[in-house]
Amino acid sequence: MAIKGLDLVTFSVDDASAADRFLMQWGLKRVADPRFGSRYECADGSAVRFAPSSSDFLPAGVQPGPTVREVMWGVESPADIERLHHELASDRPVEVDEEGALHTVDDSGLAIAFRVSHKQSLKVDPLGFNTPGAPQRINSPSRFYKSAEPQELSHIVIGVANFSQAESFYRERLGFTVSDRYQGRGVFLRGAPRGNHHNLFLLDDGKNSFNHLAFKVRDIHEVIGAGQQFQALGWQTHIGPGRHYASSGCFWYFKSPFGGALEYVADEDILTEAWQSSVFTPTPEMFSEWHFGAEGPKLGPLAKPGAESS
Ligand SMILES: [Fe+2]
Repeated sequence: MAIKGLDLVTFSVDDASAADRFLMQWGLKRVADPRFGSRYECADGSAVRFAPSSSDFLPAGVQPGPTVREVMWGVESPADIERLHHELASDRPVEVDEEGALHTVDDSGLAIAFRVSHKQSLKVDPLGFNTPGAPQRINSPSRFYKSAEPQELSHIVIGVANFSQAESFYRERLGFTVSDRYQGRGVFLRGAPRGNHHNLFLLDDGKNSFNHLAFKVRDIHEVIGAGQQFQALGWQTHIGPGRHYASSGCFWYFKSPFGGALEYVADEDILTEAWQSSVFTPTPEMFSEWHFGAEGPKLGPLAKPGAESS
């Protein structure tokens, strides 16, 4: 089984006009969607869409009002779809839509779906850095950003009422791999052994909830440059900018009309089977190496490598 990552995330909203304005200014491309009118795509084709909270065709939300209504995962091949169908139909209803995508629910009641991924391969020129002794950018100014161009959906963070049940479902039924863990707080999971540090973070929240959805941009300068421009348009910072210890990601979270935050993130760790998972202590100073408008980090032991096999 190979779950490549997030393909399409569907939301309910109370203010469709604000949701449209947010996503256009976030830097996504609006394209026609037969059921929803529009969806909003990253460069690789992964996308989000929304409908009013009162819409009768949306799957049930895990919380009332604006929130996530369905998480569509992209898989590599039709054979993966067949295996997932067989696995999940053993204990829950699974619907197959006209395009062959599977629709069902996870053990928390969150609507989930699977399709052969629509994501396109990305070709992005990396930004060169002039490190002393190893300059990469000669006679060439750096890149500057006036707005973001999100490249792909990176990860989603979902709060769950029954944490152990939720973790078991994603690991044992869907084949997710543990990347790292915040002790007593949550687990970072990736859909395949090789890939982004996490596609899913399950938050031991005591309730089912949507926390945030992250969009990968090209580099740290895009996080900060485009994030600053986005804030200047009137959208409010939730946290950031900063840089996580877990995943190494540079981030900036913004409050959104979607019931949780949306995040710009760059330079997250890419993992293979050789990765040794760690258990991080969930303290505020462990959340970020640096961030503005908050107390600075108190450096200490960061994590216990190899504390858990995945
Ligand atoms: Fe995140």
